[in-house]
Amino acid sequence: MRVAALLMAAGRGERLGGTEAKQFLPLLGRPVLRHAAEALLRDGLVDAIQPVCAEGERARVDSILAGLPVLPAVAGGATRQASVRAGLEALAPREPALVLVHDAARPVVPAGTVAAVVAALERAEGAIPAQPVADTLKLGEEGRIRRTVPREGLHRAQTPQGFRFPLLLALHRTAAEGATDDAALLEAAGHAVRLVPGSESNVKITYPGDLERVEAGLLPRFIPR
Ligand code: CTP
Ligand code: MG
Repeated sequence: MRVAALLMAAGRGERLGGTEAKQFLPLLGRPVLRHAAEALLRDGLVDAIQPVCAEGERARVDSILAGLPVLPAVAGGATRQASVRAGLEALAPREPALVLVHDAARPVVPAGTVAAVVAALERAEGAIPAQPVADTLKLGEEGRIRRTVPREGLHRAQTPQGFRFPLLLALHRTAAEGATDDAALLEAAGHAVRLVPGSESNVKITYPGDLERVEAGLLPRFIPR
């Protein structure tokens, strides 16, 4: 197998609240998770998706993703990092050359993003889509500004992030807890990670209102005129 993709869906969506985790909420009538899987496949480069979800949701995830090139879902862990590790271990026997790691909470990945990440892996061990920070950054403390932080060179990291599979697996097997994304493991070990252009539309559903905003942004494309 050349390119595998982990679809990370083992979170509980505590910042969004509600009874249902955000990856299962409907967006234009289909679960967010289904949109995220289809988005990964759009560029035609991903051979198989490995979903990672809560133990009790495995059958449900398999049914939501039915008909796509998807392996049976495996159980994640208490942190995103532990969940990625579980997904990588499940993929290990298949020996993919490259692995993408994508948040199931990001239903909109523009065409070309996966292709750009995969292409960048020819020259680097990792590659991530990222957006330059546009707003002026303020370091705040107790409701007051302490200082302005120079934003030059600062980026917001998105997913899907891509890596050479054997390297990411080895780093996860030895890493301490606490990384908030996978690129951070490569950075800490001194490996090159390329930045490719991200997109404003590649939103991670996180807070109340995010899903409604994403849906409103997608709606015009789906209404026949
Ligand atoms: N994730 C995971 N395993 C975890 C935690 C998170 O697979 N133990 C996944 C989530 O399902 C999500 C992605 O990682 O698709 C990004 O994480 P985040 O946006 O933080 O989602 P949640 O952890 O679900 O949300 P919150 O932090 O608000 O609880
Ligand atoms: Mg989280």
